[in-house]
Amino acid sequence: MTAGTDVALRDQAAAVLRGNDAGGWTKASPLLYPHQWSWDSAFIAIGWAHLDVRRAMTELEQLFAAQWSTGMVPHIVFRAGRGARYFPGPEWWDCAAVTPAARGLPAQTTGICQPPVHALAVRRIWQLTPPRLRPEIRARIQALFPRLVHWHRYLATGRDPEESGLVTAYHPWEGTDNSPRWDRALARIEAPRPGPYTRLDTSELGDPAQRPTDWDYDRYLWLVELLREYRYDDEQIHRHYPFQIKDVFFSAVLVAANAALLDLAGVAGGGDGDRAEVAGWLDRGRAGLTRQFDAGSGLCADYDVRAGEQIRLRTFAGFAPLFARTADGGQRAAQLRLLDSADFCGNPRLRWPLLPSTSPAEPAFEPHNYWRGPVWPVIDWLLWQSLIELGCADRAAGLRRDSLAQVTGAGEFNEYFDPFTGAPLGSPRQSWTAAVVLDWAAPPP
Ligand code: SER
Repeated sequence: MTAGTDVALRDQAAAVLRGNDAGGWTKASPLLYPHQWSWDSAFIAIGWAHLDVRRAMTELEQLFAAQWSTGMVPHIVFRAGRGARYFPGPEWWDCAAVTPAARGLPAQTTGICQPPVHALAVRRIWQLTPPRLRPEIRARIQALFPRLVHWHRYLATGRDPEESGLVTAYHPWEGTDNSPRWDRALARIEAPRPGPYTRLDTSELGDPAQRPTDWDYDRYLWLVELLREYRYDDEQIHRHYPFQIKDVFFSAVLVAANAALLDLAGVAGGGDGDRAEVAGWLDRGRAGLTRQFDAGSGLCADYDVRAGEQIRLRTFAGFAPLFARTADGGQRAAQLRLLDSADFCGNPRLRWPLLPSTSPAEPAFEPHNYWRGPVWPVIDWLLWQSLIELGCADRAAGLRRDSLAQVTGAGEFNEYFDPFTGAPLGSPRQSWTAAVVLDWAAPPP
């Protein structure tokens, strides 16, 4: 990639973000996702940080303005209003009507959450803040810091009553929708009875094969009905609700984010109490992931709490020790070997040696279908950052180079890409893809 192509790509990526800018917050994409999404926003803020660090902070401030009183940051803030074409909209969730935790917010929200990339984003914003803006951005980080701690505390307690160090996911929409990781747990829900509904995603996209099936949607929507029935109350959910998975990827992001939060405590003047609490979550998260590491496969396994069974599948999530950036030497070596094996980035059919969401060797693999095979640039961005922190500079450089080549080759900033052909898939002009491209293509400091 020459300097000239980098500049052109940066301009195109910036145009995607500006095109999706709704004024203080950014649509996840113009077609499928017209509202503000939680982890999208965090990546988007990293992209904005290359254009305007103030705008980057505003993105996160707008998101955290919709934080629930429990500390949960909801997965969608319905900022585009009821008229926007998205299903299921706020009326399906009805959060403010059923729980005081969601009342008094500036916009309606969903009642679930997504991986906590936010502290990683704030740390990146701070790194990119020019000296003349430091006093202002420091003050804004100081103001946001308690909300970040509250968010992580919710995940470390409300989502982990067992104190296992692992976050319990309540819904496939809490990260990786139709990943085969959830297939068995969803199949156990015998009689989903969601109210009548009409999907918009498949008609918007034009190719239903790139989206979850109707079988999946029946279960996704039924789970939302159950969550609403339990008033989004963590205690009731833990007691009665059928879908509870200790998600090692989500948990790994929390570990990395807790490390970022400790770094930010220095910037934000966090007190000793906060630091000790965050350090405790960090240790517990690392220990939890270590317990889920399977030396035989070299991968970390999710755990289905209701079924009491490990979920052993070859997906990107198995690299949780790398995503957590804290793998011990033995785990790290095993994971790096596996990463470039034929099951993952070394598969001879891949267009680029990038991490596919599901291994091509897995029977459930589908190269076009959302989280069942395609390459997601944001996942490779997280891996890239991890490899840098773990001292694997050469492998990280390869991921960056190939990720940029994938987007350049496709000529599009799509949501995900076919691992075998590099063809762009899913929603076009996806903000978070443009955002990570801005970070990858930035000139060295
Ligand atoms: N990813 C889900 C969707 O496709 C919701 O977050 O709509």
